[in-house]
Parts: sequence; structure tokens; C-alpha cells
Amino acid sequence: MSTLITGARPYGEDAVDLLLVDGVITAIGTDLSADGAQVVDAAGLVALPGLVDLHTHLREPGREDAETVETGSRAAALGGFTAVHAMANTDPVADTAGVVEQVWRLGQEAGLVDVVPVGAVTVGLRGERLAELGAMADSAARVRVFSDDGHCVADPALMRRALEYVKALDGVVAQHAEEPRLTVGAQMNEGDRSARLGLAGWPAAAEEAVIARDVLLAGHVGARLHVCHVSTAGSVEILRWAKSRGVQVTAEVTPHHLLLTDECAETYDPVFKVNPPLRTDADVQALRAGLADGTIDAVATDHAPHAVEDKESEWASARPGMLGLEQALSIVVQTMVEPGLLDWRGVADRMSVRPAAIGRLETHGRPLAVGEPANLLLLDPTHRATVDPAALASRSRNSPYAGRELPGRVVATFLRGVATVMDGKAQK
Ligand code: DOR
Ligand code: ZN
Repeated sequence: MSTLITGARPYGEDAVDLLLVDGVITAIGTDLSADGAQVVDAAGLVALPGLVDLHTHLREPGREDAETVETGSRAAALGGFTAVHAMANTDPVADTAGVVEQVWRLGQEAGLVDVVPVGAVTVGLRGERLAELGAMADSAARVRVFSDDGHCVADPALMRRALEYVKALDGVVAQHAEEPRLTVGAQMNEGDRSARLGLAGWPAAAEEAVIARDVLLAGHVGARLHVCHVSTAGSVEILRWAKSRGVQVTAEVTPHHLLLTDECAETYDPVFKVNPPLRTDADVQALRAGLADGTIDAVATDHAPHAVEDKESEWASARPGMLGLEQALSIVVQTMVEPGLLDWRGVADRMSVRPAAIGRLETHGRPLAVGEPANLLLLDPTHRATVDPAALASRSRNSPYAGRELPGRVVATFLRGVATVMDGKAQK
């Protein structure tokens, strides 16, 4: 199986040809000979390493009406991803070797991206006792990222114990930072706007307090901590301080927190309800700056598909969460590349290299270089299109970008040299 990609611009640099043979990049140069290979004309397209998502909700097992491993994998491939971490808040919860192996196997069968299961930190996400972290790490799924996402590991003693365990497993705790006592009934960012709209507020301090506590714990234990979906300027400041002190902490920001603000709540359209909530313009600016300077390591989608009956209700009863996989790269192009905050190498670093390193993935997040696995995407950065939720591959429709014109089109995605997407269409 060989493919010759002609005229692509790796990291937006000079145009070259790339030869992919048996899943490996075997040659990079000008005027390479096709010699029986399938030829893909990539003139004008930017080539990047396949994207890696640290935070995807695939909903299988349990809510296959909202998403399955297969439909979520297709959405991911169309977004330029070659690996996604599948969050543990499924039904049953991914808190045993059996469930994580099931999710991993479903991902292999779908064959569109590498589906890497996240293991729950606590049994049933209940925050009471630790799940079987070692058994999940030793399973076929090779779990390295552990998270109760959707819930915070709120008990500090349990969090400390989790950090001690994952340290021994070369793993990481990915914390959904939300002090639950401060967010009872919360519906949106707490501020003037929540008061005016009459929606209960979710204060920035509920996130920042947990991050501050956890970086101190991670430093004390000497373990790795990852902070999910950072959403406030204060969180960025705490992370910057912790990193300057040598704490092994990494963090992610979602595309929606890079683009949207709590002004969206004015519509009372529950498509904009998400946890943590959309924040202020000052927060958005701080998140962009933090991602640009590397204080925030990664963009992670928090792709959160929801069935119509769970999402299209009044604001207070709608589930939090929004789709993200298919538009993530476009949002990063709009919010980071076009304003000059990140170049293409920066995009590769924050969307592929660093997330792969955090998840301890060996064959993803590798440079576009001879001898490396052929996991890559081809992007047309100048193409602009309007998002039509009906056209998404996800089984759900809760896209906050409906009707928005966004830049950038993923033309092709290759997983181990095989096209999972070609001409913007999924190949399975
Ligand atoms: O908005 C969210 N949706 N935040 C979470 O933490 C969980 C997620 C979900 O599972 O729907
Ligand atoms: Zn979360």
C-alpha cells in the first residue's frame, strides 16, 4: 500500500512530495517518483501531523442514540484527528478493564481513528473510592489518562491518593475542576449577565480553587496532573505560576472557550449551555494568550453529543455540552492562526504533539519526517464554508457553530498511511 502526496506544504512551509509506504513516511522531497503509488494532488494544502484529542465523549456504551464509537470516530477523522481519548462517563462507566477494553475494541473495529479509552478515577464517577486504575492500565486498552470528567474529584484526600497511584502507572489524572459546593444549580458564568438573565451563576472561583488545590497536591506528590477545559483568566494565571514552580501540570482549552462568550446565553438557546460555562471576553483573550505562550498545552474538543430530547428543552433542564470534533481545527485557525497567535508548527504542537505526549501515545504526535508513522492531515486553509448541523457525521446535532462561516477544510486524513478521509469525505 503506497500513496504519493504531491505538492503539500508541511507545517505551511515549502511544497514537497511525501511518499507513504506500509503506514510509514518513507520519503520527502521534490519530484518523487510515483512508481505504482496512488497519487494525491495536494497543491496548496497544508500538511500537519494527525490531530490528537484528549477529551471526546463517544457515549458508547449506553447512549448510542447520541453517538457511537463509530459515528464519533467518523466525526473525528473528518476533523483531521487520528487519535481520540474517549471519556469515561459512559453507561456503564469506564471504571473497569472490561469496559475500557470494550471501547478500545469498538474503536479498532471502526478503524477510522485510534480510540484511546480514558479510565474513571473513582468507581461509578461517584467520588467515593478509587476505581481499578492498575487493571485498566494493564489491559489491552493501555489506559494512561484517568478522569471522572463530568464530575470533579472533589475530595482532596482521594485526589491525593489518585495522584499517587497514577504516578506509579506513568499515568495522569485529568481533572474536571469544579468545586461542587460552589456550583449547585449553576447554569451559566456568574456575573452581571447571569444576574440580569435570572440564571444561577457558576463562579470562576469554583474552577480556580480546585486547580490551585490540585497543582499543590501534584507538586507535593510529584505526580502528573492535567486540567480539563480551562475556562478562566484566573486559571491561566494559576497554571503559569505552577509551571514556573516546576509542577508537572498540563492543561487544555476547548475550541468553544476560545471563540464564544457568555453573551451567547442571551439567546436562551441551550445549544450554548456547557460545563464549564462560556465566560467573558477577557477570559477568552487570556485563554488565547495562554495557548499561544504554551501555558495551556493543548486544544481538546470536549465533544459532547446529546440527543435532541436531552438538549432541546428549556435552558435549565438541558444537558450541558456541545459538539466539537468536526470544527475544532477551523476554530483554531480562526481564533489563533488568522490573528497571528500561532503558526502551523504551533497548531501541530498544541493539537497533536503535546496531547499525544500527555496521553503517552507513541505513534501519534510525531513529526512529519522520514521513518515516522504516516498519521497526518491535509488542510485547505483558505476554504470557507458555513456550518450545517444536518451535514455533520456526528449522530447528534448540538453544534454551537450552526450557520457560522468558518475557515479551513480538512481535505484528507491518513491513519497509518490509509486515507480515512479523502476529498472531505469519510472513507468508511
Ligand atoms: O458540558 C459538558 N458536557 N461538560 C462536561 O464536563 C461533561 C460533558 C458531557 O458529558 O456531556
Ligand atoms: Zn468536563
